[in-house]
Amino acid sequence: MPPVSFRQVGAGSWYGQNMDHPQAPAPGAVPPGVVPRHVAVVMDGNGRWAKERGLPRTEGHRAGEEALVEVVAGAIEAGVEWLSVYAFSTENWRRSPSEVRFLMGYSRRVLRARRDLFHSWNVRVRWAGQAERLWPSVIRELREAEQLTVNNTGLQLVLCVNYGGRAEIISAAKSVMEQGGAAALSEASLSQAMSTPDVDLFWRTSGEARLSNFLIWEAAYAELVFTDKLWPDVTRQDLWSAIDQYGTRERRYGRA
Ligand code: FPP
Repeated sequence: MPPVSFRQVGAGSWYGQNMDHPQAPAPGAVPPGVVPRHVAVVMDGNGRWAKERGLPRTEGHRAGEEALVEVVAGAIEAGVEWLSVYAFSTENWRRSPSEVRFLMGYSRRVLRARRDLFHSWNVRVRWAGQAERLWPSVIRELREAEQLTVNNTGLQLVLCVNYGGRAEIISAAKSVMEQGGAAALSEASLSQAMSTPDVDLFWRTSGEARLSNFLIWEAAYAELVFTDKLWPDVTRQDLWSAIDQYGTRERRYGRA
């Protein structure tokens, strides 16, 4: 039987002071041998979740915070090593000024509110994205979370904030070329210069089936899984179902 979700025992009680810390794979969460090393998540559908309820879009983002905590816990319990989440893309600046303002303040609040919890779960927080345009106070929170968790050896949680895949490739290419010129450019050197290792499972919620410029270099050989649920409704069991689907795929990397 899978571990009980906090939604089943009542939101709020699960991740309080006395919760069990999901610091290690939970027996029975996901069959061993099918666990992807790196899962990339496009947390999509917050706006639609709010619209369905006649609420402002910002309420959808607010509701998405619990799903994030739930999926981090589920990833730890499944034995995933790297979890990258798309929190704010370089394209998200095109949203209304009020939503952008909300998302900046929201990211800052989530980081501050959750960093101790993630730290207690032995999670190492990393930030991937560009500093340009990003609010300095958000950068400060990201750096603090990174500092706090720098020695943690559990799940590597990559918060992709002001992140764009094409921009990441350009910046990696520049850094490789600065060190060794054009001759130094290779698939191996570029991969080395990226923020994350190769993605094994690319998971997007809300029924949309697009990459949206997320980890496009790293996801070159990823298995894609799309889930209809809107992000705020997601629980760790949905992550495990996505991992189950991943486990049924045959990864051939071009071989026959
Ligand atoms: C996409 O839904 C979701 C976002 C743009 C923000 C998601 C961010 C979080 C849940 C957490 C942020 C946390 C940290 C730590 C920085 P959408 O607005 O595109 O939904 P729609 O497609 O239904 O409009």
